Amino acid sequence: MKVLIKIGGSLLDDPAQRSAVAAQIAALSGNIAVVHGGGKQMTRYLDERGVESRFVNGLRVTTPETVDAVLKVFAGTVNTQLVAALGVAGSKAVGLTGIDAGLAMATQLNPELGFVGRVTSSDPRLLDVLTSAGYLPVVACVAGGSGGEVFNVNGDSMAVACASAWQADRLLFLTDVDGVLDSNKQLLPVLTPADCASLIATGVASGGMQAKLNAATDAVAGGVREVRIVRGSAENVIARVFAGEQLGTAIVKDRN
Ligand SMILES: Nc1ncnc2c1ncn2[C@@H]1O[C@H](COP(=O)(O)OP(=O)(O)OP(=O)(O)O)[C@@H](O)[C@H]1O
Ligand SMILES: [Mg+2]
Repeated sequence: MKVLIKIGGSLLDDPAQRSAVAAQIAALSGNIAVVHGGGKQMTRYLDERGVESRFVNGLRVTTPETVDAVLKVFAGTVNTQLVAALGVAGSKAVGLTGIDAGLAMATQLNPELGFVGRVTSSDPRLLDVLTSAGYLPVVACVAGGSGGEVFNVNGDSMAVACASAWQADRLLFLTDVDGVLDSNKQLLPVLTPADCASLIATGVASGGMQAKLNAATDAVAGGVREVRIVRGSAENVIARVFAGEQLGTAIVKDRN
């Protein structure tokens, strides 16, 4: 079984939280790959330099000046800190971006967003090479362009591109909320792509969750059997989900 775990940036910001997630991942067996975001870290990095963060439909507007920050924050600090924590926990973790061995090549998604990429091709062989040799690939959400450019790819989209190309059986999104919440802040346990579209259309799912639901919909369409969104800080959450506990929100093709 192939499992792709996407870790949101806010879970990785606190060292104790990061270590807890790393320990859970290190305890897993089988073919595991990790993709991570770093939204919170990126916003802070830019804030500290007097640059305001702007989002359109949950995606960060990435100007030529902020592409360098994308590399420094996602591929640099966040990736390396996570790889270090996983190493301490006992994993043979290897830090990568989508640029490595064609794992994720992208083109511009929308001129309004600048250097935000849409993944157009993904060569998953590196994931197979590493996992079959016992290594744990840890991929930052950065993709390459055909002209050598660097694209910022939303972490959830990156996870889905990798999961689909790698033919992952399961995709688990670890985030900073219990799952997808309705307009009364109640957890929605199961959503179809049509439900996701209406949550977005009505504005109930916005910002980062809008991006996540769009990505989750693509994952289901891309053949990933099980897609789930859970709170990454919940006690032992990964093992509990794999043991069949109905935590968080599952995104399914249809309700039957
Ligand atoms: N209906 C909703 N239910 C739950 N969360 C929602 C909803 N609408 C918007 N959100 C927001 O989406 C956020 C999760 O997306 P966000 O992009 O911030 O995290 P992430 O994807 O886990 O991290 P990263 O972007 O760093 O990879 C929540 O913290 C919440 O503020
Ligand atoms: Mg996000």
